[in-house]
Amino acid sequence: MPSPAAVIVLAAGEGTRMKSDTPKVMHRICGRSLVGHVVAVAQSLDSGKVVVVLGHQRDRVAEHLAESFPDVVTTVQEEQNGTGHAVRVTIEQLEDRGEPLPSGPIVVVSGDSPLLSTATLQMLLAEHHAAGAAVTVLSAMLDDPTGYGRIVRDEAGLVTGIVEQKDAGHAERAIREVNSGMYVFDSGFLSDGVRLLTTDNAQGEEYLTDLVGLARDSGRVVAALASPDPDDTLGVNDRAQLAAAESIMRQRINLRWMAAGVTMRDPATAYIDVSVDLEPDCVLEPGVILRGATSVAAGAVIGPDSTLIDTVVAAGARVNRSHTELADIGPGASVGPFTFLRPAAELAEGAKAGAFVEIKNAVVGEGAKVPHLTYVGDADIGEGANIGASSVFVNYDGVGKSRTTVGREARVGSDTMLVAPVVVGDGAYTAAGSVIVEDVPAGALGIGRSRQRNIEGWVAANRPGTSSARAAAGSDAGAPPANSESDANPSDDTVTSGEIGKDRE
Ligand code: UD1
Ligand code: CA
Repeated sequence: MPSPAAVIVLAAGEGTRMKSDTPKVMHRICGRSLVGHVVAVAQSLDSGKVVVVLGHQRDRVAEHLAESFPDVVTTVQEEQNGTGHAVRVTIEQLEDRGEPLPSGPIVVVSGDSPLLSTATLQMLLAEHHAAGAAVTVLSAMLDDPTGYGRIVRDEAGLVTGIVEQKDAGHAERAIREVNSGMYVFDSGFLSDGVRLLTTDNAQGEEYLTDLVGLARDSGRVVAALASPDPDDTLGVNDRAQLAAAESIMRQRINLRWMAAGVTMRDPATAYIDVSVDLEPDCVLEPGVILRGATSVAAGAVIGPDSTLIDTVVAAGARVNRSHTELADIGPGASVGPFTFLRPAAELAEGAKAGAFVEIKNAVVGEGAKVPHLTYVGDADIGEGANIGASSVFVNYDGVGKSRTTVGREARVGSDTMLVAPVVVGDGAYTAAGSVIVEDVPAGALGIGRSRQRNIEGWVAANRPGTSSARAAAGSDAGAPPANSESDANPSDDTVTSGEIGKDRE
């Protein structure tokens, strides 16, 4: 496979039709900026150099590229005087820096054409090489060619030039073969040619496309390759095209993962970023959104209706109707339904974060369970521990955060408030409804709640004539329940296990 000596990505244009404060090439589809997709393809070609031409809002785009693609070289086109001008100033700036354009095939693409594939560019390079061409154009046959430059051929079918929409006559406008704006040039021809371009056209710009006619007129070989997939050439100029490009890319991503052995119950509702990694035999139920650095291992089942952002899901785990971000879900662990895992939530093997649970910056140990309606923040929960329903890890005193430790095989009763910093020892219990402000030693029962007292006859005295009073009067022919004579908890040391929250399943 011939690889290019350099790839030039044109990204200086303004993108007015996006009607956006964000530079057009920084709009994102499937988790990556438009220019990011193009640069990723450029880098996949083993190119010596990837040069991105910046102009409009160049500081923001440069910062974005430096962050995500530090190997990319940038040049600046101060005023956008056309695609040919963009290439000319790029070549001149590289020369000024003492790093002239390397010799060999030079690929030129647009930063707003994110659907371009590595395979298509490789075909274009192979065609360029085989034809011994000075320039090879990637074309596309479109039912509606409006707006594009048209590929003009002679009777023999050889390309004679490209005519822009605004310069085209009636007959030329009827041509359906269009210029995709992606090319391979011979480096010598390109750097000589761009210095010969004029602005003698409808837009008063230096057109890169004029190099095609120039090559032909000087007796050089011009080649054109119709894109095997016309979708590859789709450019994004407005929000509708942005959505169309995302839809096509999403479909490609889904097909690729299904081919790799991933089950998708409904690919139409699977939204997977390019950066996501899936193992064969994981299952995506309908309505799954996987973003960023998320990975899902074999046998895991995600969804329905779940969003996972930068989350690692190990083999055999289950995530059901939940939202997770920067979480780590261990082998066979289970999450949901309706659960929220926030950054640094970590479930060890076989751990459970059940229904309506929120966890952040906390480790739930092997086999430990947080089954229902609980907030866990800044905590370490030991293996095999169980956190009763409706408990809260009270981690915030209004100023700072503190950590809670729950030991191995501990049993935190339902509705326990663990006021951090606090430690519940290995195998310790807390009584349901407790506010735990002091450490509970290993094996102890911590009780932190006021004692219950019953006021006999209160309803009859204070709510006479109500349905409650009638029910009380008619109950068991008026006999009070067996234990109503005394406090519910006669003394702290006779608390029975029945009074301790036990949510262990
Ligand atoms: C260009 C082609 C046209 C082709 C179409 C495909 C020319 C003269 N025309 O037209 O034949 O069918 O692309 O999409 O090349 N850019 C710069 N600096 C500039 C002008 C443009 O960097 O001065 C960049 C833009 O940011 C964009 C790319 O070049 O990424 C294409 O520019 P655009 O204005 O969209 O060109 P079109 O008029 O669409
Ligand atoms: Ca365009």
